[in-house]
Amino acid sequence: MLLNASGCLDALVAPDVARQLDAFVTKTITPLPREGNAPQRIAETAHGMLNAIGLANPGRERFLGEMLPRLVVTLDIPIWVSVGGFSAQDYAETCAALDRSEAAVIELNLSCPNVDEAADGAAEIVAACRDATPIPLYAKLSAAHPDVGAVARAVADAGADGLSLINTLRGAALDPRTLKPVLARTTGGLSGPSLKPVALAAVHACYAATGLPIVGMGGVTTGQDALELIACGARDVALGTVLFSDPDAPARVRAELAEAAERAGVASPDDVFADAHDAEKHPHTRRKVTA
Ligand SMILES: Cc1cc2nc3c(=O)[nH]c(=O)nc-3n(C[C@H](O)[C@H](O)[C@H](O)COP(=O)(O)O)c2cc1C
Repeated sequence: MLLNASGCLDALVAPDVARQLDAFVTKTITPLPREGNAPQRIAETAHGMLNAIGLANPGRERFLGEMLPRLVVTLDIPIWVSVGGFSAQDYAETCAALDRSEAAVIELNLSCPNVDEAADGAAEIVAACRDATPIPLYAKLSAAHPDVGAVARAVADAGADGLSLINTLRGAALDPRTLKPVLARTTGGLSGPSLKPVALAAVHACYAATGLPIVGMGGVTTGQDALELIACGARDVALGTVLFSDPDAPARVRAELAEAAERAGVASPDDVFADAHDAEKHPHTRRKVTA
């Protein structure tokens, strides 16, 4: 299944791009509206994109009252709602307000590098949300944690149904002449191709740690990138930064994914699922059966 990464596609502005996906993931919604950080909030670097948007969003009330119903009538694909907040209660209240008929999955954004407020612990948030809703919960984790596999295990024990990996990593860019930070808040989240090796490692570690379904993302620009995430243990793949430069990326990556599978000598991308794992050491690994 191919999705967009949260915050990288506005489906109400570009519904034709969203309709190429198997499910649409919303921008992260917080209880109250947020204007986000002051400009400048985006910087292009030779190594990827830095964004310091700071979770700008219309807030829960407007999202539930206006935007989600519009998304439901505009798109005929499942909608995953990305939920954020600054306490377990913030997250749980938004989860409780979501209806299964509108939100197929809730993605808990436990990993935004662009806000200063510290959230409660990941497992605590997941446990509170688990009590608040029967809707499937995916925990979106950061690869910045020294042991992301341990965090994955903790959120799995707290009731997460799946994982989304990875969010951006904190970085900075300087103006080459003034040597001052380009972004108003100095740092932002790095995304794009340079994230791919980090994403592969995080997906590999979290699949080995939990066996949970994983949406892999981070630097996917080609079908080969997507196939490699699947080989590390991702069941689904999300496109992020690539959507800003290539709105046709969903169709292109889908076609390339089939070609990459063919090059790998298998009939379908599913046939390489978790192949990067050693079956002896990783009990979750399902090896493909060869005649
Ligand atoms: C402009 C921008 C806005 C983003 N906003 C969100 C967000 O609201 N919630 C979230 O969980 N991730 C957000 N992300 C992170 C992406 O969903 C994704 O995890 C990250 O960009 C890595 O994928 P990529 O390298 O393919 O872009 C944002 C990324 C970008 C570039």
